Amino acid sequence: MNDELLKVRGLRTAFHTEAGAWPAVDEVDLTLRKGEILGLVGESGSGKSVTGFSLVGLIDPPGEVVAGEVVFDGTDLRQLDEEGLRQLRGNRIAMIFQDPLMTLNPVLRIGEQMMEAIQTHAKVSNAEARKRCRDALEKVGIASAESRLDSYPHEFSGGMRQRVAIAIAMLNNPDLIIADEPTTALDVTIQGQILYRMQEICRTQNTALIWITHDLGVVAELADRVAVMYAGRIVETGPVEEILSAPRHPYTQGLLQSMPGIAQPGTRLQQIKGMAPSLTKRPAGCAFSPRCPNVIDRCTEQAPGITIEGSRNYRCYVPIARESIPV
Ligand SMILES: Nc1ncnc2c1ncn2[C@@H]1O[C@H](COP(=O)(O)OP(=O)(O)OP(=O)(O)O)[C@@H](O)[C@H]1O
Ligand code: SF4
Ligand SMILES: [Mg+2]
Repeated sequence: MNDELLKVRGLRTAFHTEAGAWPAVDEVDLTLRKGEILGLVGESGSGKSVTGFSLVGLIDPPGEVVAGEVVFDGTDLRQLDEEGLRQLRGNRIAMIFQDPLMTLNPVLRIGEQMMEAIQTHAKVSNAEARKRCRDALEKVGIASAESRLDSYPHEFSGGMRQRVAIAIAMLNNPDLIIADEPTTALDVTIQGQILYRMQEICRTQNTALIWITHDLGVVAELADRVAVMYAGRIVETGPVEEILSAPRHPYTQGLLQSMPGIAQPGTRLQQIKGMAPSLTKRPAGCAFSPRCPNVIDRCTEQAPGITIEGSRNYRCYVPIARESIPV
């Protein structure tokens, strides 16, 4: 498809330890069209952040991207050197982290760092750069933007700092933003406002967004498509409304049944039994098998491959029956 922006195939990122190399992310395939919003969801430790960092070459030792392609607008980012990647980051691809202080320099005024973010990538006059910074702050809902440019990060509340980090990510009109749980630490009202702004800005600027979260409720509000991660693999992916109303993977169904507000009305909320496996103790075969209500012998022998059903796919031998799903 010609509006394809990002194509990830067979991504594997391992962490090297004394006991060997452990893949934190394995066989990950992702496709994103221009302007599309993808929710990447899963429990803690499932590999969401490692996936996000791997895409933009931000994995440091002992981690290493050991296999796969990350094709962004026709270029395999794995073939670029550090300088090539640096030019893309903050320009065509931006990241927003859970902690805005990973983006913001505490000793520089907001305006100075925003202007630097623009002027590193393009020849723009100071007056024009400052105007763009002010506009960007206004877009994320910061009042008195002109005077706030002269503030330091510590003069903002946590929610406001995150808005500034989002404004910085947006500054150069990127084609892709990777946002790693940027609203998790914020209260729900502020989270809702930020989600709304992000969605609006992405829609008007045709910016694609990968929103990493453990919260399916956020995905339901924000995303066009969802990819569900479990133990380093994407176990189910497809259009949000299809996946949330009729999951095929038992793990996705488990997540849905444990979510207040998303579980079918009248049904009891249920936690998925057991714990997600640690990196070094992933079960043989399907990693979800110790917790899965549908498990059969085959599941523990070999990990399932991908089954494609129209615009969605999943990895499971015994998917949730379609007819049993209320839609
Ligand atoms: N620096 C590291 N060294 C060793 N292992 C790591 C390192 N960073 C991540 N891992 C391992 O990689 C796996 C995936 O981690 P990742 O941070 O991607 O999870 P996550 O889905 O983002 O979780 P969370 O929701 O808690 O942010 C985990 O098992 C983690 O222990
Ligand atoms: S492959 Fe087997 S264990 Fe894994 S999710 Fe499907 S039914 Fe459950
Ligand atoms: Mg994470």
